[in-house]
Amino acid sequence: MKRILAPSILAANFAALGQDIKAVDEAGAEYIHVDVMDGLFVPSISFGMPVLESIRPLTKRFLDVHLMIVKPERYLKEFKAAGADGLTIHVEACDCVEETLKEIRALGMKPGITLNPDTPAETIFPYLELVDLILVMTVQPGFGAQKYIDSCTAKITAIAEECKKRGLERHIEVDGGISLNNVEIVLEAGANVIVSGSAVFKNDPAGNVKKYLAKMEV
Ligand code: DX5
Ligand code: ZN
Repeated sequence: MKRILAPSILAANFAALGQDIKAVDEAGAEYIHVDVMDGLFVPSISFGMPVLESIRPLTKRFLDVHLMIVKPERYLKEFKAAGADGLTIHVEACDCVEETLKEIRALGMKPGITLNPDTPAETIFPYLELVDLILVMTVQPGFGAQKYIDSCTAKITAIAEECKKRGLERHIEVDGGISLNNVEIVLEAGANVIVSGSAVFKNDPAGNVKKYLAKMEV
């Protein structure tokens, strides 16, 4: 699968969000990762539809929306209307995962499933056929700039192997604690979509994107 960088705007400068998005877009990042947090599924609150709506006209890039919210099925139409291209839901946060993934696709978005570091890989196996993307959390969700949890590397490989075994071409995305120092480890393990917040937006976002893309070249 093609390798894609997905800068997480959680670490951007919100006073100059448009400029930061333009910088990473022009430097070659193909996805913009949007972390939505509700203060319930995760302790923190980030932003929601109004922010998505404001950034939609600024970029043609894929808006990759990561919903860290309980009962995400409540808001699918609203996220579509706000401009989401993909919606990724947590297996732990939704009682009707299958229906929700189908509804995301029916609305014209790419469905994704994700799981916390403590959730076993097998938990998402029933949904592999229904999704375009599997997001492997490599930190506890809720905050940027945490340390990559090493035990997640084996999980990336287990999920990539299960997809291969079933003949499914799926994006495998990783999120949390990724930097230029460990990106090769997750690529090697089987990931092809790299989320990165603090390591992109702290100092020179465009330069950081270029450095990532150079390391991600095959
Ligand atoms: C964590 C978020 C991540 C976070 C990544 O809950 O899902 O997308 O912004 O940030 P870094 O790359 O700084 O770990
Ligand atoms: Zn995320």
